[in-house]
Amino acid sequence: MSKDQENLPVKIPRHVAIIMDGNGRWALSRGLPRLAGHRAGTENLRRVIEACVEFGVQYLTLYAFSTENWGRPVEEVRGLIRILEDVIDRELKELHKNGVQLRHIGQLDRINPSLKKKVLSAIELTKDNTRLVLNVAFNYGGRDEIIWAVKRMLADQVAPNDVTVELVNQYLFTVGVPDPDLIIRTSGELRGSNFLIWQGAYAEWYFTPTFWPDFGKEALQEAIDEYAHRERRFGQVNKK
Ligand code: FPP
Repeated sequence: MSKDQENLPVKIPRHVAIIMDGNGRWALSRGLPRLAGHRAGTENLRRVIEACVEFGVQYLTLYAFSTENWGRPVEEVRGLIRILEDVIDRELKELHKNGVQLRHIGQLDRINPSLKKKVLSAIELTKDNTRLVLNVAFNYGGRDEIIWAVKRMLADQVAPNDVTVELVNQYLFTVGVPDPDLIIRTSGELRGSNFLIWQGAYAEWYFTPTFWPDFGKEALQEAIDEYAHRERRFGQVNKK
C-alpha cells in the first residue's frame, strides 16, 4: 500500500453536503473586504471537489447562496452572483473533463436570463458524467423547497393517501439524489440554516471552527474519518 493509499479515509459517505461558512470572517481577519473571502472560498472549491473525487464521494452538495442571502448588502449579493457566473465560465471545461455532473438545487427565477441560460447549458453539458454529482444550492432554502413540492403535489392532484416519503422525494429539487450521509458546517456556527431540512433527517453532522477558505483536503479527510467512527442507527437499535 502506498503512503497516499494508507492515508485514505475508510468508510466513505456516499453524499457529503457542506455549509461553506466563514468567508466574511476569514476576510475581515485579514483586513480584506468580505467579497475577497468569497473569492478565497471559491478557490477552495477546486481543492475540495478534487478531494471528493479522490476519496470516492459520489455526491457533493454545496450551499452557495440561500433564499435568505438576498437580504445581504446589494454589492455582496451582486458579487456572489458574479462568482457563480465566473465559476461556470472558468471551471466548467475542467469539471466536465473530470467527469463531474453539475446540478442546481433552488430556484433560478431571480437570476438574470443570460446567467440562467448558462447554468442550464452547464447542466445539460455534464448530465451524463458519473464520477461526482455536484449539486450547487443557489437561491436555495429547505422550507422554500418543501413549499414548492407541496404546491406541485396539489397541482398534480396527488391523493392524500398516496403521500409517502418516497413520493415527497420525487417532488424535491434533489430528486434522484440520495440523502446526505454527512453534513459539514465550517466556521464554528452550530446551526442547520434551512439547508436540506427534509433530506438531512438522518445525516451525521460535523462542525469545525475552520473558516471555509481554509477547509482543504486534510480537513475533509478528518471529517470523513470522524464520520467513519459514528454509529448510524436511523432511529433503531444497534443490531449485534
Ligand atoms: C458564508 O460565509 C458563505 C456564503 C454565503 C457564500 C458561499 C459561497 C462561495 C464559497 C462561493 C461559491 C460559489 C459557487 C457558485 C459554488 P459568510 O459570508 O456568511 O461568512 P461569515 O459568517 O464569516 O460572515
